[in-house]
Amino acid sequence: MASHMNPHHQYRAYLNIAVKAARSAGRLIVRNFENADTVQVSEKNKDDLVTNIDRECQRTIAETILHFYPEDRITGEENSANTENVSAEREWIVDPIDGTTNFVKGIPHVAVSIGVKFRGETVAGCVYDPILDELFTAEKGSGAQLNDRKIHVSNRQSLNGTIIAVSYPHRKRQYLDEYRDMMNRAFDRCADLRRMGTASLDLAYVAAGRLDGYFEACLYPWDFAAGELLVREAGGFVTDFSGDKDAFYKSGAIVCGSPHVHKALLDCIAPDLKSFSKKLEEELKAKEK
Ligand code: IPD
Ligand code: CA
Ligand code: CA
Repeated sequence: MASHMNPHHQYRAYLNIAVKAARSAGRLIVRNFENADTVQVSEKNKDDLVTNIDRECQRTIAETILHFYPEDRITGEENSANTENVSAEREWIVDPIDGTTNFVKGIPHVAVSIGVKFRGETVAGCVYDPILDELFTAEKGSGAQLNDRKIHVSNRQSLNGTIIAVSYPHRKRQYLDEYRDMMNRAFDRCADLRRMGTASLDLAYVAAGRLDGYFEACLYPWDFAAGELLVREAGGFVTDFSGDKDAFYKSGAIVCGSPHVHKALLDCIAPDLKSFSKKLEEELKAKEK
């Protein structure tokens, strides 16, 4: 599809392919859900599981995308394609199963997440929950939908009465002290917290107003590429922990919600920001070596 098309048609075309790919992976997830005979689990790193179904889903998604756009770059959690093609106009950022631990345990809260970047900017994305058959979609400039119905972030003016999604830094426990403080401060001010185990659905639920806000660090681009567009297109704010809206791809730390809730969550994070950022910097530096 040529890029001189009307951008809205262009983004819709990308979204259609993302949805097609997500639905085909979703069928595999449903077929193998709670099927101990077909799911083989292994540990990539400590407390970081992967199954043969994650890999199969990734394969199906890549096949669908490359069928339409053979040159495109795919950045996937379980494998990637055309990574050397840095000049590719489009990059598809794919989590074939977000919530693998839920999947392995038979907890029906998992998703396929696909975000599409065009010339470095996210222009389309979908998060698909195959168990509930809920499809969250967004295109840049056209709003966000759940199964084709428009969705919007909740309109809370403060943390009072809110439900906020959080997570423990389960794979990077060096951040636990700061995290606990941030969560305690949020808990003091909101109605309750949730730790659901699927980052892309946390974002999608914020977009749909089911959750009022969400923050988590130590994420990867495939966890949030689609979901952060959903939240923004649904009227929410998304930034890193310091309030920077362009830095979360680098840090992997995200905070989001309606404008007021987003601000209130940043206030809960702020007292620990310095020590959190120092650890993050050390981690990023060590990775560069
Ligand atoms: C995980 C989930 C989880 C988040 C983890 C992610 P995975 O993704 O999104 O909610 O807390 O940090 O890694 O490993 O199930 O794709
Ligand atoms: Ca993930
Ligand atoms: Ca995954």
